[in-house]
Amino acid sequence: MQLLSEIDFADPALHAEEDLSQVWRRLRTQEPAHWQPGRGTRPGFWVLTRYEDVAGAYRDAGRFRSDRGNVLDTLLSGGDSAAGLMLPITDGARHAELRGALMKSFSPRALSGVVDSIRAASRELVGEFLEKGGCDFAQDVAGQLPLRAICDLLDVPQSDRQHLLDMTSSALGSESELRLQQDSWVSKGEILLYFTDLAAQRRRNPQDDIVSLLTKIQVEGAPLSDEEVILNCYSLILGGDETTRLALVGGVAALLENPAQWAAYRSGEVATDSAVEEVLRWTTPTLHAGRTAGADFTLHDQVIRAGDIVTLWNASANRDEEAFDEPDRFRLDRTPNRHVTFAYGSHFCLGAFLARAEISAVLSDLRDLVGEMGAAGPARRVYSNFLGGLGSLPLTWTRQA
Ligand code: HEM
Repeated sequence: MQLLSEIDFADPALHAEEDLSQVWRRLRTQEPAHWQPGRGTRPGFWVLTRYEDVAGAYRDAGRFRSDRGNVLDTLLSGGDSAAGLMLPITDGARHAELRGALMKSFSPRALSGVVDSIRAASRELVGEFLEKGGCDFAQDVAGQLPLRAICDLLDVPQSDRQHLLDMTSSALGSESELRLQQDSWVSKGEILLYFTDLAAQRRRNPQDDIVSLLTKIQVEGAPLSDEEVILNCYSLILGGDETTRLALVGGVAALLENPAQWAAYRSGEVATDSAVEEVLRWTTPTLHAGRTAGADFTLHDQVIRAGDIVTLWNASANRDEEAFDEPDRFRLDRTPNRHVTFAYGSHFCLGAFLARAEISAVLSDLRDLVGEMGAAGPARRVYSNFLGGLGSLPLTWTRQA
């Protein structure tokens, strides 16, 4: 058995290639506050794995700060250049005010039009690929819906959507390690340029959408800079596209691997709402969140110093036996199901309602339209220490009689 001190939790291959359930269990029981020492010029960081500690850290934004970055890789490379400009990596009064201004646009009421359009799109896509007898669920169905929802939110013109979709998949699509690194910076630059133009248009001619809202609001008595408007648009794509895609794909993969659960869902024995929560717990698309210690404090007899990097592993917390009965079983009727997939506290996911609505739409369509469903080839995991799940899921399926 590998020593915990030898494991590199920053290594994308570890998360893509290994089943870490035993490692997480050992950490939770033996070293709940584990220090991974620095390697070469790279600094060390803390690894928190217990549900209670992860949820507690999310709720304690004073001791666990987000304003240097919230992803391990950026923290390891000295901090996020958009810190203090983008909602998820801003803290304190400025964060609360910006979040407050955006909240209304993410309420169920404000999103009802987007949700209707996503339901229609899901039904259309599932129907289209049922006619073909199969698909790569990751690309053909799950790869289409989340970005459509975000484009609706930002009111991206229909004629630009395919272009944005192409840029986004090459900026963020992490199925191939090499291509990701080569293409990603060019595409990220293009996406930012795209939003620079869109933001300028909406400043001149505001509509009823989030880009226009960002150009209009005042935070701490002043309007947002162009840079802040653009970065916050980009942040919605970063936060809402691949995460939701991974939840959708992982949910279908779990149904394929658990035929009794699929049967229970199809027969109506299990409600869609509880199925959605179990898909979210089971898939945990955001493996970790990164924080920076805001003060010196002690946790499980370890002294964490102000400025230390601390990682909160949702992937482990969502399988903690102290928080969930039979955590390693996919059980669609699980209640309660207080997973940390959307975090907790001040940075709780702003898009949670939308993500739930998208998963709910797809699950309902599978239940209503699909007859038989089976794997049609190996599924591929994404290479990342931040996002976890499947980048491809070939399947065959038939339409319900
Ligand atoms: C299954 C899909 C999703 C997952 C797993 C997910 C996960 C998360 C997590 C864990 C956080 C907290 C990050 C932290 O504390 O550092 C977060 C925050 C956020 N998410 Fe999501 N998210 C999802 C979907 C979405 C969608 C669809 C949107 C918007 C279109 C979105 C927008 C945001 C934003 C803006 C924040 C920052 C909130 C703040 O800092 O106040 N997310 N999300």
